[in-house]
Amino acid sequence: MVYKMTEEERRDLLDKIGSYKKEFEGRLSPLDPLDPERPAVFISVGGGELGDLAVTAAKGQYGGAGGGVRTVAFDRYNGFPAQDAADASEVFDMKNGDLLERYIKKYVPDPSKPHAIYMEVEMIDTHRAYKLGMDEGYKVMSTPYGPLVCMDRHATKLMFDRLRLERADWAYANNDKEVHRIAKDFGLPVIVKPVMTSSGHGTSIVKTGKELEEAYAHAVEHARGVGDEVVVERFLPGLKTMGTEITQIVVRHFNEHGKIVNSFVPPIEHRRPGATYHESWLPSAISEGAAERCKADAGRIADFMGGIGVYAVEQFVLGDEVYNNEVANRPHDTGMVTRWMLNMDEGALQLTSTLGLQINPFHLEIARQDVYGVAHVVLAPLEIKKEVKVLGWNASKLNHFQTKGVRGDFWYFGKPTAYAGRRMGMAAAFQPDLEKARRNAEIIAHLAEGCIEYGGRV
Ligand SMILES: Nc1ncnc2c1ncn2[C@@H]1O[C@H](COP(=O)(O)OP(=O)(O)OP(=O)(O)O)[C@@H](O)[C@H]1O
Ligand SMILES: [Mg+2]
Repeated sequence: MVYKMTEEERRDLLDKIGSYKKEFEGRLSPLDPLDPERPAVFISVGGGELGDLAVTAAKGQYGGAGGGVRTVAFDRYNGFPAQDAADASEVFDMKNGDLLERYIKKYVPDPSKPHAIYMEVEMIDTHRAYKLGMDEGYKVMSTPYGPLVCMDRHATKLMFDRLRLERADWAYANNDKEVHRIAKDFGLPVIVKPVMTSSGHGTSIVKTGKELEEAYAHAVEHARGVGDEVVVERFLPGLKTMGTEITQIVVRHFNEHGKIVNSFVPPIEHRRPGATYHESWLPSAISEGAAERCKADAGRIADFMGGIGVYAVEQFVLGDEVYNNEVANRPHDTGMVTRWMLNMDEGALQLTSTLGLQINPFHLEIARQDVYGVAHVVLAPLEIKKEVKVLGWNASKLNHFQTKGVRGDFWYFGKPTAYAGRRMGMAAAFQPDLEKARRNAEIIAHLAEGCIEYGGRV
């Protein structure tokens, strides 16, 4: 369930973050030592590929329940990627706040015992998560109040302004007339976005005045039922041609002195031909100056929000200029490249930091030297109508990419069903030359797409 906020309520929320942070951080403590007799419980609310990274890390790095970390994963369908890796799982509609609360309490009856709750998906009852975290002492990470700001584009922009962070010029509008006025002030093109969405749903780039009304109606229609408000931004025309996009991941965690500190993943670069995540790589090819800006800005956002865990800040980079765009208080799609390119991937970083374990600088170093590592999405065919069964995939056929001299890898998620464009896996390729690495990742991705077999309708 989502609630519409007024501008005043948003400002009021931002005014309160400082005291929320103090109260919430005051309840957090380092987890030392891990105790197999009384394992800490890590709940992934959402068990897709990002949840899977965190849950598998509990086994791969900490010995699972026997090592002192018991994992639980929730999702809305059976056979979800993290389900088989987790010690326990539940299948239910996570948008239902009552069910969410009931299942969290089933696994963590006493919130004073070690646990962490990772909100892997956005589409949950954010107010219930807030209540569990702030009123009942549950460790909803990175913070229980973060989604109220981060999932609301207007609140996020107000936060950028409060922190005096660079961003594309923006304004909000409640009707056609206001959209026209803002477009006149900024000059066309502008980009019109719903207050609350992801994956480009409801967003339009508007080049002529005639299209403004349609863009406004389109945004309101996709706004997850949060009213008539849209955000209008000055479009940065150079972004696609001369600029690039970055996800700056910040990990807030306890250090060896029991203090909460920020550590930074090197900036992750990504490109998107369409509206959704397509490819990302490490290291980025941006200037040192821009990389410093990305880190500094993201660090200030993480300090403002507080808590412990992963923050992912989306930024647009043009030369040395950095424009902050969005913030996720959780791991990020583009960060999946960390599975190959960092000593600890973003899921393991989320697990480790949110449980109160330490992150050391080695974890955040690039694992493969002298190459670019590019991750590329592997999608179900766009021609699929409705939902179909996934029959399996042919691993030996996929390995033919090696005979083409391509160095790379494939991560198959194992989802039981597919719909048009559903993400089924990730391809990765490694080369000293970035463009070659990008081409090779695409070769593996397209080969992989041909190796997955689909059956009849579900
Ligand atoms: N002001 C802008 N100028 C130029 N390009 C923009 C601007 N805003 C957004 N874009 C482009 O559109 C993409 C999606 O925008 P944004 O991240 O704000 O929306 P979203 O729906 O939340 O997408 P996602 O959930 O995939 O991150 C950006 O990654 C960027 O490529
Ligand atoms: Mg985005």
